[in-house]
Amino acid sequence: MRRVRIALLGCGTVGGGLVRLLERSRARLASELGVEFSLARVLVRDLARRRDGVDPSLLTTRADAAIPEDAEVVVELLGGIEPARSLVHEALERGLPAVTANKALLARHGPELFAAASARDVPLGFEGSVCGGVPIVRALRGGLAGNRVESVTGVLNGTCNYVLTRMERDALSFAAALGAAQAAGFAEADPSLDIDGWDAAQKLVVLSALAFGEWVPESDVRVRGIRDVTPERLAEARRRGRVLRLVAAAERRAGRLALEVGPRELALDHPLAAVAMEQNAVLVRGDEVGELLFQGRGAGAGPTATAVLADLCEGVGAPYFALTRSTSFAIARTDSKLSGSTSSSGIVIPNCSSQNVTVFKMDIESRRPLANSESSAPRPLRFLS
Ligand SMILES: NC(=O)c1ccc[n+]([C@@H]2O[C@H](COP(=O)([O-])OP(=O)(O)OC[C@H]3O[C@@H](n4cnc5c(N)ncnc54)[C@H](OP(=O)(O)O)[C@@H]3O)[C@@H](O)[C@H]2O)c1
Repeated sequence: MRRVRIALLGCGTVGGGLVRLLERSRARLASELGVEFSLARVLVRDLARRRDGVDPSLLTTRADAAIPEDAEVVVELLGGIEPARSLVHEALERGLPAVTANKALLARHGPELFAAASARDVPLGFEGSVCGGVPIVRALRGGLAGNRVESVTGVLNGTCNYVLTRMERDALSFAAALGAAQAAGFAEADPSLDIDGWDAAQKLVVLSALAFGEWVPESDVRVRGIRDVTPERLAEARRRGRVLRLVAAAERRAGRLALEVGPRELALDHPLAAVAMEQNAVLVRGDEVGELLFQGRGAGAGPTATAVLADLCEGVGAPYFALTRSTSFAIARTDSKLSGSTSSSGIVIPNCSSQNVTVFKMDIESRRPLANSESSAPRPLRFLS
């Protein structure tokens, strides 16, 4: 069993969710990946606050002591710019894989952080930074081989979408719908970053960097929020067979990458028109693949911690694979290290028979099974939902 110690920076909504998810999936991670995660240190502001599943002796408020010598991976879930930026830098410079869900940090300092990661050849995972549990970062990073992405369009902010949906469905005023979002836990006490469009703009910067390979400064995004939307405007749009959504869009126009966030009317048959309440969705258009729609819960402890855990597994060289029901034979390739004695890239061959799968891990170059290959024990197939 490989034991991996995490320096957890931040233990609030997402950090706490990660602690719970690690606990709940402990047995599965051990049996399926051969990895056991534990906490090395936990950085917080308030030592007195109760944190289930965290040994109080691991808590610290000191940023300079947040990444102890024995930490093997760093997970940044603080939010904001500092000390998040310095600590992610510190992790990468020490050669430690890092994971962050911090879109504000990436939108502002993405280029320098990815340069630092690439200089030390360590992974920097950021699936949780855009659309919580929707694996859009993985899809854009590796799923569209050979495609030229033409546009990325999304409903990226669950708070705004919840507010607009309630205003339209229940004829609520903006203030009443926002109050309902806050009461339901879908909006912060200070919701300005969300409703003024900046949260969506930061996510769009990250998505467009992935899709187009170019970091557009946040200040170059044209941003309008939803404060001035009225129930009358929504009703009028509906009479014309349209709905209003806060749409974030990135596309090339005349050779230039244009990023825009603002309320946009969509025809009822538009793929994003049906995205309601706190849901997020991203529509990607590639020249070969056509249109792809990714949709799901874009925030919250469970969905975001799921994305963080996927990065965590990949970051420490134990990527989590899932097979689709239609798979009868599949080869999944990984570019990162697999556990065991070899450091070369690995190949995982799930060999399926009815409801069972046997996983062979092989070294790509030698085509020999790795020392930790688990070729004997059949396990139930896991399905992507
Ligand atoms: N919430 C979501 O649904 C969601 C979804 C996607 C991405 N994200 C991103 O995930 C990150 C974390 O969000 P969250 O909602 O979990 O935030 P949160 O609930 O406010 O938690 C932040 C945590 O970081 C700690 N912290 C903040 N600043 C600190 C400092 N200067 N020194 C020491 N500790 C500090 C806080 O300590 P205390 O507990 O002592 O206050 C808290 O534990 C953000 O980047 C956010 O954008 C969140």
